[in-house]
Parts: sequence; C-alpha cells; structure tokens
Amino acid sequence: MKLLYAGKAKSLYELDEGRVLMEFRDDLTAGDGAKRATKAGKGALNAEISAKFMELLRKKGIPTHYLGFEPPNRHVVKRVKIVPLEVIVRNIATGSLVRRYPFKEGTELSPPIVEFCLKSDEYHDPMVNEDIALALGAVSSREELSRMREIALRVNEVLREFLLKKGIILVDFKLEFGYDDEGNLVVADEISPDTCRFWDAETREVMDKDRFRRDMGDVLKYYEEVKRRISEN
Ligand code: TMP
Ligand code: ASP
Repeated sequence: MKLLYAGKAKSLYELDEGRVLMEFRDDLTAGDGAKRATKAGKGALNAEISAKFMELLRKKGIPTHYLGFEPPNRHVVKRVKIVPLEVIVRNIATGSLVRRYPFKEGTELSPPIVEFCLKSDEYHDPMVNEDIALALGAVSSREELSRMREIALRVNEVLREFLLKKGIILVDFKLEFGYDDEGNLVVADEISPDTCRFWDAETREVMDKDRFRRDMGDVLKYYEEVKRRISEN
C-alpha cells in the first residue's frame, strides 16, 4: 500500500479513490515531538477508543471522516483535505491555559472555551484569532471558523455526557477538521487519550497522555481503563 503521510503517531495509506487507511502507531510524543517513546499496544488502544467516539458522533448526526474500524489498529476513513488548525475545547482550566493566562488550575469553565491553534510544530501550535487564520489562508472565511466552533461545541456536549456516565470527566480535547470530496466540513483525525484530557470523576486521577507528558507512569494502564469503561453498556 502506498504511504501517503506519516505523522508523529499515525500513518496514512492510500486504499482507493476517496478512501484512506489510518494506522495508529505505538509512538507517543509530547512537546511538539521533543519527547518521544514507543509503548506496545498504544496504537490499538487509541484506535479502539477513537472508533467508539467516532461511532457515537455518527449516531448523534455529527459528520466525521470515519468509515470503519479494522482491528487492531486501523480506521478506514474518507480522504479529506485537512484544515491546518487545531480546535481545542476546554471545560476545566489546566495545561497550557493556566500557563498562559491567570486561570486557577482545576476551575470549571462555563461556558466552555474554544481555541483555534495553527497546526505547526515549528511554531508550537500558536493560538490564532480570526484575522490571523484568514491572513495565513488556514481558512477562507469567518463562517468556516464559526461552523468549526459550532461542531466542536456539539462534540463536547455529546462526549461530555457520554463520558460522565462512565465516571470520566472530559476536561478538554483537540479536534481536527477536513473537507470531504463533496465539500462537507467533517471531524477528522482521532479522539483518544492522546488528544483529550480525561479525569476520573471520583478521584480526579489523570487518565490520558498527561501521564506521559508529566512522567506520571502507568500510561497504558489508564488508556486501557478508559477503553474498558467506554466499552461497557
Ligand atoms: P493544552 O492545554 O496543552 O493546550 O492542550 C489542550 C488539549 O489539546 C489537551 O486535551 C491536549 C490536546 N492537544 C493535542 O491533542 N495536541 C496538541 O498538539 C496539543 C498542544 C494539545
Ligand atoms: N504537543 C503534543 C502534545 O503534547 C504532542 C506533540 O506535538 O509532540 O499533545
């Protein structure tokens, strides 16, 4: 199969006209690639977790690039043109938000905060406003930004409610968007413990990639626990 693209944690292969095979690898990075590791089984865990979330979004009528799960670690997805922005939604202040602004760690953000960042390791994914996103050509209209914002907030509602029933707080997460061949804006990439912050609702224990970023240990043990909880009926 022809390799189309290899990112930091996933590789894309050409399947056929319009469809791509997205492989979740065992690689973990943080700090825009500055810190790296490989953990056997991480790719399969994220592929399964992300499949579950993409299926949930589909059920709720939110358009995504997801077409199907090919165990253990691949998704069949629509070929899309990726918008070079990361859309972050935050329900609780932590991470780079408390490093950059005077928010108190752990405070609830109501309503949630939506942030647009440029996808660029070189520039460390800087936050952009509408003017900068337009001037850089990341989007071609302000409406595009407001549609992404709307979909991201809807995704937040759906995931937040679902996860809370599983005893997990959705602290924040990152989404990527793309345009399919018919010009529809769809949720792309992955939704996993690599791209979300999850806290145990009772203990507030960290159940996501912060365990790797902050050298807390037991990374995969917690990814496994997220998978177990969201797979239960
Ligand atoms: P932050 O607090 O570091 O800005 O991260 C906010 C959320 O976005 C968090 O759930 C982790 C996720 N994220 C990514 O998925 N990829 C990234 O490159 C960054 C910076 C954050
Ligand atoms: N900065 C990303 C993160 O910490 C990972 C990376 O870009 O290497 O989530």
